[in-house]
Amino acid sequence: MQLKTLQEADLKGKKVIARFDFNVPLTKTEPRKITDTSRIDLALPTIRMILEKGASKLVLISHLGRPDGQPNPKYSLEPVAAYLAEKLSTDVILSESPVDNGVKNLLQLPETKVVLLENIRFHPGEEKNDMELAEKLATYGDVYVNDAFGAAHRKHSSTYAINAFFKNRSYAGLLMKKEIDSLGTLIEKPTKPFIAIIGGAKVSDKIKTIEKMLVLVDTLLIGGAMAYPFLKAKGFEVGKSLCSDEDVNLAKQLLSQDKGGKIQLPKDHVISSSLEGKPEKCLGLNIAPDFMGLDIGEETIKSFADHIKTAKTVFWNGPMGLFESKNFAHGTMMIAKAIASNKQCFSVVGGGDSVAAAHQSGLAEEFSHVSTGGGASLEFIERGELPGVQALKVGV
Ligand code: 3PG
Ligand code: MG
Repeated sequence: MQLKTLQEADLKGKKVIARFDFNVPLTKTEPRKITDTSRIDLALPTIRMILEKGASKLVLISHLGRPDGQPNPKYSLEPVAAYLAEKLSTDVILSESPVDNGVKNLLQLPETKVVLLENIRFHPGEEKNDMELAEKLATYGDVYVNDAFGAAHRKHSSTYAINAFFKNRSYAGLLMKKEIDSLGTLIEKPTKPFIAIIGGAKVSDKIKTIEKMLVLVDTLLIGGAMAYPFLKAKGFEVGKSLCSDEDVNLAKQLLSQDKGGKIQLPKDHVISSSLEGKPEKCLGLNIAPDFMGLDIGEETIKSFADHIKTAKTVFWNGPMGLFESKNFAHGTMMIAKAIASNKQCFSVVGGGDSVAAAHQSGLAEEFSHVSTGGGASLEFIERGELPGVQALKVGV
């Protein structure tokens, strides 16, 4: 089944209800300010297109954080409403609760154009994929648009059940389409050589992604804390580095699956006695008992960069070290630079931390695609499908 996209929708005079992923990071103290607006910025073209196509009303749905089915001012979408109003130069009315009579009344006022429903996870039905909630939401729109790629791995009321009420009247937004096309290229027709760089903390979190990558790629570069269980599995000393027994066992399993010898591990490290300690070079592979690995070393950077240079397709997920600390950010920044310098490759960055690292490097614009999905981008790669996308295509 083909995904119907916003471009083909006739919205003239129609009420549109649209799901976005405005789950953006906020400051911890009042007044709460958005610290990274990317997810909203990347949704603006979809919102603008809906309005330009002549929709009479636009009702926006999103979640923010995990308020667990009850109202909680900490997770209010208020800062998002204010930011949207500024960017769209139009009033964006935030409803008091995600579904109530107030919303209906609001929509009856001729001057109301854009309404943002308060955090949909304030309603207990959202995460339960509740049909009744979906039915209520459906009364707010003639047409449903889903642009929330970042939440498409969730089978929730506003991403999944709601599709039951919009047969042949549901469309993918522009961001959703771009995400699916870009990540789809990786799993369906990657131009070879295809090189993946996987980092981050836990093998157990990413085992399915790594297994899938072993099938798709020519070379799999593993760095960051992810590398230590692999090195330990091969018999090297990892000192105090992050490394659980469970992860070592999983790493052993993955190494035995790697018949083609695609996995490449670090050759040296930057180590320290603690997370706050001063960085020291560790030229060999074994790390002394009182030290922990916190970044990849120069030899590793060079070897990974040499691989990346040859790639026609690159997928990067997870940092190469503790990049939040400037003492241990060098490896991650150099990998970002290596990918950005390869102008002949199709490059995709996915997953929360590596996206933050891509932004920190100042090179995010140089990548072919920086995904707004964390869990969603990895699940899409693993399975080639997500509940939210599936429901848009074929209904529920
Ligand atoms: C995300 O940030 O990963 C998405 O917005 C989904 O949020 P969730 O992990 O709380 O479901
Ligand atoms: Mg998540």
